[in-house]
Amino acid sequence: MAIIAANFKTNHTRKSTKEYIFKVNEFLNQNSLTNEVYIFPTATSLDEYDTVSNLTIGAQNAYPTDKGSFTGEIGTSQLDEFNIKTVLIGHSERRHVLGETQEEIATKFKFYSDLGYKIIYCIGEPLEVKEVGLEETLMYVWEQLVGIDVNYENLILAYEPVWAIGTGVTATIDDIKNVHNAIKEKINKPLLYGGSVKINNIQEILNVQNVDGALIGTASWNADDFCKIIEISNNL
Ligand code: PGA
Repeated sequence: MAIIAANFKTNHTRKSTKEYIFKVNEFLNQNSLTNEVYIFPTATSLDEYDTVSNLTIGAQNAYPTDKGSFTGEIGTSQLDEFNIKTVLIGHSERRHVLGETQEEIATKFKFYSDLGYKIIYCIGEPLEVKEVGLEETLMYVWEQLVGIDVNYENLILAYEPVWAIGTGVTATIDDIKNVHNAIKEKINKPLLYGGSVKINNIQEILNVQNVDGALIGTASWNADDFCKIIEISNNL
């Protein structure tokens, strides 16, 4: 059963998120689709959404606190209001654009895993590392797991090569296979692929051994496209 997740990043308003979630929920319901589906809207669009049991709404980010003085951040008080128990941690944009260090990421992971949250934890190498080769890529990826309890029961991993995110460049099937196999050899957790996944490549990617689903940015922002992706993945 594929796990399919939509990462909105800084897209959609509160109003359009509501319409989007309603549409995807209806689609899952009417077609009795059984994939495990996640939607990560912006923090401003979190709300109490009435969804089918296989559709979960999560937070793209949260600070390791229940409340306090952390300007611009949200904590578990804000998540609890909407019964959000799922969070993305370690996304490449948080690492490379927002400057989160591995130490901060590990602290966040510890805080949210202690509370039992479902965590989608992202790892992936930048282009200059990929160009050196597979060994270097794996070394980079292992570094991103320092301080992370990879045996945590509610952990889903997502391998997202930085050079493939939002660029339209998807990793080749061999790239995906090599890295996924190596990760799975060490860690027995669901492992998603992310990086320019779209309607016309989802099937091929999900057919790769050790790919358990996809974390999708750009191609997920249109509800009809996301439903199509869910449908294709459900039929595999
Ligand atoms: P993309 O983003 O699908 O736009 O490449 C993936 C992600 O960042 O999760």
